[in-house]
Amino acid sequence: MQDKKKDFPIFKYNNNLVYLDSAATSQRPQSVIDALKNFYERDNANIHRGIYTLSERATEKYNQARKKVAEFINANENEIILTKNTTESLNLLSYTLHGILPKNKTEIVLTEMEHHSNLVPWQQFAKRNNLKLKFIPITDNYELDYSHAEKIINEKTAFVSMTHVSNVFGTINDIEKIISLSHKKNALVIIDAAQSITHIPIDVKKLDADFLAFSSHKMFGPTGVGILYGKKNLLDKLPPFLFGGGMIENVSYDFSTFIQSPEKFEAGTQNYGEVIALTAAVEYIQNKSLHVISAHEKELLSYAIENLKKIKGIKIYNPGINKSISVLSFTINGGHPHDIAAILNEENIAIRAGHHCCMPLMKKLKIPGTCRVSLSIFNTKEDIDRLITSITKVKTTLQLQ
Ligand code: ALA
Repeated sequence: MQDKKKDFPIFKYNNNLVYLDSAATSQRPQSVIDALKNFYERDNANIHRGIYTLSERATEKYNQARKKVAEFINANENEIILTKNTTESLNLLSYTLHGILPKNKTEIVLTEMEHHSNLVPWQQFAKRNNLKLKFIPITDNYELDYSHAEKIINEKTAFVSMTHVSNVFGTINDIEKIISLSHKKNALVIIDAAQSITHIPIDVKKLDADFLAFSSHKMFGPTGVGILYGKKNLLDKLPPFLFGGGMIENVSYDFSTFIQSPEKFEAGTQNYGEVIALTAAVEYIQNKSLHVISAHEKELLSYAIENLKKIKGIKIYNPGINKSISVLSFTINGGHPHDIAAILNEENIAIRAGHHCCMPLMKKLKIPGTCRVSLSIFNTKEDIDRLITSITKVKTTLQLQ
């Protein structure tokens, strides 16, 4: 693949930067930055409110953005709720789901590799509603233990909420299998697709997931926009999450009625400029093709693993290239991940280090954290070479064996 760094102005302003933290947030292509700037310069007005051309134009662009996102995951437009981020999408569910769950269901199933955003809201939900949390364990190869899943998901399961891809290991979870298992037990399934959305094509109809959440900022789009997909028949049953302007049908001093989803869930002025610029991000991915992007990343992941493995004292946390997207964690014997990342930073290499919002997983692995490398379309073999050479320097500086 041609060097795609030229699409991303960050590399023009940060000479020699090796950005290996796309799992935390994507860099933004020029087309997305332009879309945001152009909107505010040329089309800005609040949506859904004005009886004038500018507002109608902004509203039309907002609706087009929703349509674009829906098309991207093969959903219907009215099944796409625009939120602030993945965390808010999951919180929306955690505040509205209880009323539609059968009363005989007493358990929630998560996995041991969940991000705090798909764990903490459910801990609170479980406390409020007196349900029990259960966890599908991980194996020594950083995958889910599916034989265990078959036992844990049973008639008592109200829903399973799980990540599609681990933000620590890169592991691609077999969500098709879990969805099928869960539906046989009449349990709903919520998928956190924050880490998979720019790597794996998602077709919600084929998947049959009940809900699916992701963020714009991890898919080359602006910050401040999250997406929650939900099956129409389920969204219709959920109560609103936030109340106020933009979601009402009729309001009296003591009583209000609400419009249909998705607007039922979009109270107040939305991040409409950012939502509109998300269209450009989806177009960027579609123009490049997800298959081409992920093939490129896979080649780099394989190259990175092959070379990292040669470094003495390194431990890699990744299930293997055919079972993961382009994310891997590593530790170096005797080195704290923060020290390693800080020294790599001196070489202009940006990686994430720490618990990656997965504290219970780190406790299970009995480590304080890991160094994490995550790749994107603009990364090259030279970036990996720079990483490998610099790790050798890290080892010398920290006097690691
Ligand atoms: N969830 C993001 C990450 O894993 C921030 O880095």
